[in-house]
Amino acid sequence: MKKIILTGDRPTGQLHLGHYIGSLVNRVKLQNDYETYILIADAQALTDNYEHPEKVRQNILEVALDYLAVGIDPKISAIVIQSMIPEIAELTVYYMNLVTLARLQRNPTVKTEIKQKKFGASVPVGFLAYPISQAADITAFKADLVPVGEDQMPVIEQCVEIVRSFNRIYKPVLVEPKGLVAEVGRLPGIDGKDKMGKSLGNAIYLSDSADIIAKKVKSMYTDPGHLRVEDPGKVEGNTVFTYLDVFDPRADEVDKLKIKYKKGGLGDVVLKKRLTEVLESVIGPVRSRREQLAKDPAQIFRIIREGTERGRIKAAATMAEVRQAMKLDYFSK
Ligand code: TRP
Repeated sequence: MKKIILTGDRPTGQLHLGHYIGSLVNRVKLQNDYETYILIADAQALTDNYEHPEKVRQNILEVALDYLAVGIDPKISAIVIQSMIPEIAELTVYYMNLVTLARLQRNPTVKTEIKQKKFGASVPVGFLAYPISQAADITAFKADLVPVGEDQMPVIEQCVEIVRSFNRIYKPVLVEPKGLVAEVGRLPGIDGKDKMGKSLGNAIYLSDSADIIAKKVKSMYTDPGHLRVEDPGKVEGNTVFTYLDVFDPRADEVDKLKIKYKKGGLGDVVLKKRLTEVLESVIGPVRSRREQLAKDPAQIFRIIREGTERGRIKAAATMAEVRQAMKLDYFSK
């Protein structure tokens, strides 16, 4: 029997190169070898967007388009809307008993996000508790593997703890998942900051036009000390080189450029032109597939609906086992 992948994204915007490198590439590559479920996590998106349900709704289509455009094959992978799987909400309620408030507050992923979003003590309980509902996402599908961005690893760790508690207290019905982080766990934003993110305004999207890509690359952080072409420049922490390392297929040529840049005599303009071309060769084909797919939204919703139905069957089977383990199976023989 095939092992299972469960993964997902919050539909709060279109997907960007950080998603692409951090997990989409892995998901596309692994979909043939695993039974794959990809969750559009609308309920989780609401935990910090509860006042903007229209935004979450709109982005369901956008995220699905991104998935299909990068090569997620709906014949193999099920694209599932989280809120349409009530078993996930049900499991969340029971898992809440297995997690302490202190443990949630210590979760580094949640801690960082609470800081970023400036929630302070006014953090919605739903947001603070999203690692619990994410554990429900993962375990409802009995996932073995969860391809995610590096920042999500503490959430997977907490899921493993919940699985262990559940299996010890009730019955060993849940599966312990493993997180899978890409080789390049985290892509910095175009401003050179730690992480590419929609809310940070430093992202290049999979739907960006060639012009926008060029403009964004032009604004990219390089070496602030590298003023004239003939000056020696720094390669470490130079975002253009970081991106070339990730996306340029000619590593040998990039190495030569690095030597020249460090010596002096290589300008940012030349370097950025190369990166623009490299990124266009990655995004161009994705963008045109995306445009093609976007012409028939009804077809996309059919795909999501069919994927959600497949997901529901899986989650319901797990839920039946959970009910039995927890002695909640009142009406079954
Ligand atoms: N929390 C993830 C993110 O923000 C999205 C997500 C929701 C997810 N449910 C999941 C990822 C289950 C992996 C598995 O990127």
